[in-house]
Formats: sequence, structure tokens, C-alpha cells
Amino acid sequence: MIPPRGDIASPVAAEWARSRTRGEAHHAKDHPRALVLADPAPHLARALEESGHSVTRWHRFLTPGQQCTAWPPRGPFDEVWVRMPRSSLEAAMLLHAASARVEDGARIHLFGAGDEGIRSAAKHFPAGTGEVQTALIKRRCRVLVAAREASPPHADGLGSWETRVPIDWGTGARDWTFYPGVFAHGRLDPATALLIECLPRVPAGARILDFGAGTGPLAAAALERGGDGAEAVLLDADAISLAAAARNVPAGKQVLGRDLAAVSGPFDLIVSNPPIHTGKPQSLRTVEAFIREAPRVLARRGELIVVAQRRLPVGDLLARSFNRVRTDADRGPVRVRATVAP
Ligand SMILES: C[S@@+](CC[C@H](N)C(=O)[O-])C[C@H]1O[C@@H](n2cnc3c(N)ncnc32)[C@H](O)[C@@H]1O
Repeated sequence: MIPPRGDIASPVAAEWARSRTRGEAHHAKDHPRALVLADPAPHLARALEESGHSVTRWHRFLTPGQQCTAWPPRGPFDEVWVRMPRSSLEAAMLLHAASARVEDGARIHLFGAGDEGIRSAAKHFPAGTGEVQTALIKRRCRVLVAAREASPPHADGLGSWETRVPIDWGTGARDWTFYPGVFAHGRLDPATALLIECLPRVPAGARILDFGAGTGPLAAAALERGGDGAEAVLLDADAISLAAAARNVPAGKQVLGRDLAAVSGPFDLIVSNPPIHTGKPQSLRTVEAFIREAPRVLARRGELIVVAQRRLPVGDLLARSFNRVRTDADRGPVRVRATVAP
């Protein structure tokens, strides 16, 4: 489940950016280059632009009209702003990347809300940064600032953050690549494992789509059950997950996208442990759109298999678009539902 992220942190960071520009004539340059990492809200970037910065924004998650790649651009930059990500390891990774993109003396900022762990986040700044100061506390958000004093300890690049862990879905352990912030880091999700148990054999030359593929376990297991020449397309909105999937399922084709418009059918098998965003009325929006659009990209007699928490109305969503929906497995809190296109 993906918790929603409030966007009060960006306005608070914007307030700090504006006030420090008014308060100090600290910029030697006319147009200092600012890098903003992983902030989906526009407030900070706008405030920096209004105070004369040239701003580059980077996202790992597909954000229309913006730079979405597995690793931030090189720069160089005069300052960096990092939006507190979901996990501590990801915070350490982004701050390390931030530090590798500026020179000694430049400022690295981390901002986020109290319920995202910003209060104890100073420890995530890498070796080689000076004392971390709290620049602003407001509306349960904080802006932390530290100056780079030396190069950060690891090589710059996603590769330095790779974790390899043996994963086994019943056909033997294989070393699996994870990067910070991917779904089910370091393990096989139990719902994913249950869907793998239900996977059908696919015929030679079959085309498989894994929607919300993450690091790729469903696509890899489906390919294992595939006949000669089966091919898999792995669709995900997170460029870093797809970088892991490229390592784990080298035979697959990775596609960065947010919906089925990103791929061309027909597919003989679509598998998914789809993203569910908790806490908002529109939390089922992605899975709703995915199931609604699935008949368009499914081959005739093609099969769609989805795993989800049983309390979610995924069976009802499937029944709106397909005539017959079966339950292939029902274990603990999760249920695997399948349907065949007419
Ligand atoms: C529950 S995880 C499943 C990952 C993987 N299939 C597994 O079973 O381990 C859902 C995945 O959907 C991705 N995702 C989130 N929103 C998406 C969207 N709109 N379109 C495609 N993928 C999305 C997330 O990045 C995440 O990797």
C-alpha cells in the first residue's frame, strides 16, 4: 500500500527559500543553479525561480512534463533540495546523490513533515557534510540544512545502493536486486507469492504484461512458466523499480508509464499486484483505470490475474469489465482473482 503524501512540506520549504533570499545577500551568482529532488509539489521550485534560481527538478516516479529517470542529472549545481522520501535508506541515497552534485561549501537541504520522519532525519546526511541545522519548523514540517565539506563516501550512482538478496518462489533461490524505495525491499511480498502460485502455463510465443511490475518477480515467474519465445513487458511508474527489474528480468522489456496507454497489446496474459494508494477517496483510481482498460489490450481468450487485499472491491471492478470472474486463491488478507477475455 502506498500512503498518501501531504504536500505541506513544499510550501514550508518555499517559505524558507524566500525568507533566506530576502535576509542574506549570500549568492555570489546571478542565477544560482538549484536541484530539487523528489518534490511532487510545485511550491518550492516556484519560490526558487522567483528568487532568481535556475531550477532543475528530478523525480524517480513518472511526473508528466518533468524529468523522470533512475538517477538525478549530474549538474553541477550550486545547491540541492531533497524532499524527505518514504524510507530512511532512500533518504540516505538521495542525500548522498545531492552531495555528489555540489561543490564543497554548497548547501544541501532536506525538508519534510513530522510523520515522514523529518525530526530524526539529520542522521541520513552522508559523511562529508557539516553540522545539520534546523532552518525552519512550521506546520509540523522542518527544513534541515548542512553544507558539504568533502566528497560523499560512495561512488555516485544507483549501483552503490544495490542490495542482492536470495528470493525463492518455489523454483529455487535466485539473487534478486533491490534499490531503496522499491516495493517489498529485500523480500518476496506474500500477495505476490500467492499470485505466482496461481500462474498458468503460457504457450510458446505468448506476450505477458506485468502491470506495476516493481522489481519484476511476477514477470520473471510468468516467463518461467512460458513456452519458447514468450516475452514479458514490465510496466511501472517508478524508474528505479524498472532499473531493478532490468537486472532481475533481463529478458523483459521495461516500460515507464502510469497506465495501459504506455503499452501496445494484445497480451495473452496480464498479471498484477497493483498499486493501491491508501487514505484518499481516489485510492483505487489506478487499479480502476487499469481494470477498465485491460480488455482493450488483452488478446482474445487472454487472461488477467490480479492479487489484492480481500477487503478491496477488486472482484466488483473486474465484474464491471468482464463476464466471468473466478477466485483462484483466497488466503489470509489477500485474494487472487482471474478472468478471461471473451
Ligand atoms: C504493490 S507493488 C507490486 C510490485 C511487484 N509487481 C511485486 O509484486 O513485487 C505496485 C507497483 O506499482 C507501481 N506503480 C504505482 N503507481 C503506478 C501507476 N500509476 N502505473 C504503473 N505502476 C505504478 C509501484 O511503483 C510499484 O512498483
